[in-house]
Amino acid sequence: MYGMIHKAVEAMVLENLGPDAWSTILHKSGLNDEHFFSAQSYDDKDTFALIGTVQAHTGMTLEVLLENFGQYWIKFAAEGNFSSLMDMAGDDLESFIQSLDAMHAAIRSTMPDADMPSFEVSRAAEDTLVVIYRSSRAGLDHFVVGLLQGLMARFNETGEVSVSPQADHSIFTLKLKRQSNR
Ligand code: HEM
Repeated sequence: MYGMIHKAVEAMVLENLGPDAWSTILHKSGLNDEHFFSAQSYDDKDTFALIGTVQAHTGMTLEVLLENFGQYWIKFAAEGNFSSLMDMAGDDLESFIQSLDAMHAAIRSTMPDADMPSFEVSRAAEDTLVVIYRSSRAGLDHFVVGLLQGLMARFNETGEVSVSPQADHSIFTLKLKRQSNR
């Protein structure tokens, strides 16, 4: 994946565990400074090696780490060079998720080697959104859970995200709590 993802992992570790932990993790992962150019694309095995080393170092389950990283990514992306894209993507949770593919397509024009996922959203009930996630990669469902939790927080929504993996896609159900001001 693009180095931007590696930079986000680095930022999350530095923020939560500090520089000593980061040097240890970087060393153990087999990566080096050359793997952190935001606009360069790296082999997925480097990205997964980095995540796996953070997981081993913290003792978290992979699921929890990926969820934390998904939540972190929403804040990271909202503060970086692409923040204006995030701002334009929608003013509420449903329309934001609806525009994710267009947003990733726009990003692909500057990151042509990116292999982007796709999302479809529908409202199953007043308090329930259903999101279908398709990717050429396996193993990222809990990253998506964290991303969706992060998006809920961005739009001041609360509730539960659950995932149901299917053969070639995964279905996420977002059960939203009614906001008192609605
Ligand atoms: C401005 C904000 C964003 C930027 C710049 C961005 C950029 C990227 C990039 C560069 C990749 C790696 C693709 C590759 O290297 O092959 C990626 C992957 C991904 N993005 Fe985004 N993204 C953004 C926001 C989001 C949001 C809000 C979501 C929420 C659902 C999301 C979901 C994902 C997922 C799940 C992947 C993993 C790839 C996969 O599933 O195969 N992204 N994104």
